[in-house]
Amino acid sequence: MVLQYFLPQSLEGVSLAQVRSHNSSLKNLAPGLVAIFVGGTSGISHYTAREFARNTTSSHIYLIGRNEKEAARITQELQTINSSSKVDFIKKDVSLLREVDAACKEIKEKEKKVNLLFMTIGTLTLKGRDETPEGLDKKFALHYYSRMRFIQNLAPELTAAANDADPKANLSRVVSVYDPFIGKKGVPNFADLSLKTGFSLGACATHASAMQNFALERFARMYPATSFIHEQPGGVETGLAKSPIWKPVYFLAKPFLVEKVESGERHLFEATAPRYAPKAKAGGVEDVVIGADGVKGSGFYHLSWNGAASGPSDKETAMRADGAEKKIWEHTEEVYKKICAESGKY
Ligand SMILES: NC(=O)c1ccc[n+]([C@@H]2O[C@H](COP(=O)([O-])OP(=O)(O)OC[C@H]3O[C@@H](n4cnc5c(N)ncnc54)[C@H](OP(=O)(O)O)[C@@H]3O)[C@@H](O)[C@H]2O)c1
Repeated sequence: MVLQYFLPQSLEGVSLAQVRSHNSSLKNLAPGLVAIFVGGTSGISHYTAREFARNTTSSHIYLIGRNEKEAARITQELQTINSSSKVDFIKKDVSLLREVDAACKEIKEKEKKVNLLFMTIGTLTLKGRDETPEGLDKKFALHYYSRMRFIQNLAPELTAAANDADPKANLSRVVSVYDPFIGKKGVPNFADLSLKTGFSLGACATHASAMQNFALERFARMYPATSFIHEQPGGVETGLAKSPIWKPVYFLAKPFLVEKVESGERHLFEATAPRYAPKAKAGGVEDVVIGADGVKGSGFYHLSWNGAASGPSDKETAMRADGAEKKIWEHTEEVYKKICAESGKY
């Protein structure tokens, strides 16, 4: 489980030269793109926000996290990289769904459109089930429930961006950095989707990955003008590497790590390149990749650290045929209803 973070998937990827050439072309996009980095106070979101600021004009960047000091430092850094960028920090503990709603409300009051929703919130804690006041496990909430809630809340603004008449302003993309491959190999326990009784770190990873894969597939069908990416970033030295437990692991894995700047560059590519086009716009894209359902250009993509896309596993195909998406989404809606609509606990 741990090692696979550091071992690159053996899929054919995108060269760094190709990544850099594409990223430098982003200056031709319209000014004023709006990008939200959920987890922007550290690691992969920070590295990607840096490249986003460098390569776009007058963009509006939101950083969401809890660490005010880091947010202030990163805000200054982004504005030094590109003084035309506007940066706002939203301080929220988004392991709580009601705080996710509050963060989205703040964004909706200021923005009519969102071009990029980029999410990396998470923790590599080895603790067992750690219940939030809303009744969910904290790690599981960060990796699944909160991320899907951000998408659900901001779907109208992502759609508004997609519908912009100016083709240089109609980027509309969701990137969730976690790991689609765990959920391709494992099957969730459909009788205990929130892991109220059967929690283990392995089960939490399988559920967060598989449930996210199916939820993103559903979003891609509902919002065909937006593309949805679930990505495994490879091993990257980030905030995770600072904890005493993980420091030695990252030290030993150093030769296999994706370098920080490269990680930011590759994530910016995934967040903007036409080869990961939304379904509605995939038609004319020559190099559009295979979707997670095995269909080219289907608008939801499972990517490896190097941008290589993969289709469904046999297990996923069997789960799909067995109605996994419906079961997972009905459960997720039930969680949102109890916590967000009824202000209760799941
Ligand atoms: N780095 C790797 O080697 C690696 C490998 C495979 C997969 N991944 C996955 O990639 C994702 C990104 O990880 P990373 O390496 O960039 O991690 P990171 O540097 O630790 O960043 C995590 C971010 O999440 C935010 N966060 C955590 N708990 C939060 C909370 N309760 N409320 C609000 N924000 C919260 C943190 O902000 P605050 O501290 O400000 O709250 C921080 O900005 C994770 O899902 C991880 O599992 C990483």
